[in-house]
Amino acid sequence: MESLQDRIDQARAEIATAPTLEALEQKRVALLGRTGLLTAALKELGALSPDVRKSRGAELNRLKSELSELLEARRIALAQQAMAMRVASEVVDIGLPGRAGGTGSLHPVMQTLERICAIFEGMGYGRSEGPEIEDDWHNFEALNFPPHHPARAMHDTFYFANGELLRTHTSPVQIRAMKGREPPLRIIAPGRVYRSDSDQTHSPMFHQVEGLMVAEGVSFADLKGTLEAFVTAFFGRRFEMRFRPSYFPFTEPSAEVDIRWIDAAGNVRWLEVLGCGMVHPVVLQNGGIDAERYTGFAFGLGVERFAMLRYGVDDLRAFFENDVRFLAQFD
Ligand code: FA5
Ligand code: MG
Repeated sequence: MESLQDRIDQARAEIATAPTLEALEQKRVALLGRTGLLTAALKELGALSPDVRKSRGAELNRLKSELSELLEARRIALAQQAMAMRVASEVVDIGLPGRAGGTGSLHPVMQTLERICAIFEGMGYGRSEGPEIEDDWHNFEALNFPPHHPARAMHDTFYFANGELLRTHTSPVQIRAMKGREPPLRIIAPGRVYRSDSDQTHSPMFHQVEGLMVAEGVSFADLKGTLEAFVTAFFGRRFEMRFRPSYFPFTEPSAEVDIRWIDAAGNVRWLEVLGCGMVHPVVLQNGGIDAERYTGFAFGLGVERFAMLRYGVDDLRAFFENDVRFLAQFD
């Protein structure tokens, strides 16, 4: 009993100074575990005479509950200490700048489209719209393409089984805008158009901005001046551009405009950015306008082409791959 008493005294001191929860648990096992000091002493009781066993048993049980209470008190103290340390180390520094969620931005093609429209709106043009699923009459026939006209082959058209089609250009909006309106009129019509077409400068879905001006005495010089003013405003400086004679059934005369640019290898290149011309009298009549009295010009700009030049992107397909690393540059 004497030596057990010594070891119990020592255990009390060790419990009080156990540095960690793990050390305390080892102590508990050494005292009260299956082969612990007190457990072993309790097992030896059976060998003692009944009266000694009674007093010794009572003493051992008292020690056992005392040690249990000491262990529990120390465990609570250590757990509180650990929690206090954790709270101190995990303190939130409210002085740190926050991590803002990234905001998205308009697609570069949409930014370009808005820029184009804003410039024309500044010149007094108003926006018009038409459907992306068109009928043959608006997309072709009213624009002076008779049913088997060879110029239809210039548009690689997507047709529906019922004869409707995905509009191949924004020019059908010219007809819709002229109907029921009296000149003078000045409209732009931005939107998606579709052609079965794909390479470095062509994609099957792309955007155009149509422009139409009809009034008395409108001439090709007005068209040229308008487009030159637009290109200068768009790029913020003069850009070399050329009017190249072309053909569209719905304009006469017709031209395409190319803009000079330098590619990544340093070569001078010309990129076609739009088609234009003086509105054909048949088209004015199809729009219900007196072609004897009024003249007009029209143009159809390729929005992706302007985006390519503005941002120095030399493959238009990059705009449609949806690679966020590419798109994030236009934030
Ligand atoms: C037209 O679509 C005519 N409607 C333009 C027009 C309007 C002429 C009014 C006269 C009066 P064109 O097929 O050339 O023309 O297309 C016009 C522009 O759209 C081209 O100059 C080019 O910039 C762009 N474009 C044409 N096809 C594609 C394509 N597959 N992908 C991207 N841009 C294209
Ligand atoms: Mg063309």
